[in-house]
Amino acid sequence: MEDKIQQIAEWIVNAKRVVVFVGAGLSTESGIPDFRSPGGLWDKYDPEDFYFQNFISRETAREKYWQMATEMYASMRDAQPNAGHFAIAELERLGKLDCLITQNIDGLHFKAGNSADKVLELHGTAMHVACLSCGKRHDRDSVQARIAQGEKAPRCEDCGGLLKPATISFGQSMPEQETAEASMRSETCDLFIVIGSSLVVHPAAYMPVIAKRGGAKLVIINRDETPCDTMADMIVKGQAGPTMAAILEKVKDRQ
Ligand code: APR
Repeated sequence: MEDKIQQIAEWIVNAKRVVVFVGAGLSTESGIPDFRSPGGLWDKYDPEDFYFQNFISRETAREKYWQMATEMYASMRDAQPNAGHFAIAELERLGKLDCLITQNIDGLHFKAGNSADKVLELHGTAMHVACLSCGKRHDRDSVQARIAQGEKAPRCEDCGGLLKPATISFGQSMPEQETAEASMRSETCDLFIVIGSSLVVHPAAYMPVIAKRGGAKLVIINRDETPCDTMADMIVKGQAGPTMAAILEKVKDRQ
């Protein structure tokens, strides 16, 4: 393991453009369950119930969605970044982060110190709520307070439109600008590091493939197998936080 850590640190130091790509596995050490590990969210809820089409067409689906979203938010609201988040923020501080592509909606990258212009949130954010009709942003805590008061599927107080956390659900269109930017950065980087993702949800999971096609070295730091393991230049099967912390220690020794 030590020589893998050393090798990844060396690749980071020598790289011109490092892109980091993360999934829910980066936040489990902050107490936020991921989706597909045993006991993850898709063990408790059926993802079918959370398709965007159902949300916009059925009040009962919206009520069920808000139940899950409220439970997820409770685990995120006061969560703190872990060593993995801090290591990625350190990469930015060292001037070694071209961009961070995240599938996570928990806002922990910003709490750890990454700047907004470095982070591409491909699946949006749970930290605020948006009206699907007029687009108005609503503070998440104020909407959660309405739910705690008994509203099951709150609507926009301005236009009566449907309110939904500003995340991207299955079947909902991806944020165009962020997706295009993420593809471009993946294609032009020379080192692409995946941390804590099962790499099964597209188009996000195409990014490592685009990077590889663009000639980048591909590193995958993940507890379980991923479909991209066969094309990786380096695989670390381990915990994201301690692994990234060890890598950054080596990077700082070599700077
Ligand atoms: N350290 C390293 N790897 C971990 C850790 C950890 N502490 N905890 C979990 N993992 C790994 C798991 O082995 C798993 O392969 O992280 C991966 C998490 O995979 P998923 O739960 O599928 O999460 P993610 O890849 O982010 O899912 C992508 O699916 O449901 C949608 O929109 C949702 O953004 C999400 C997308």
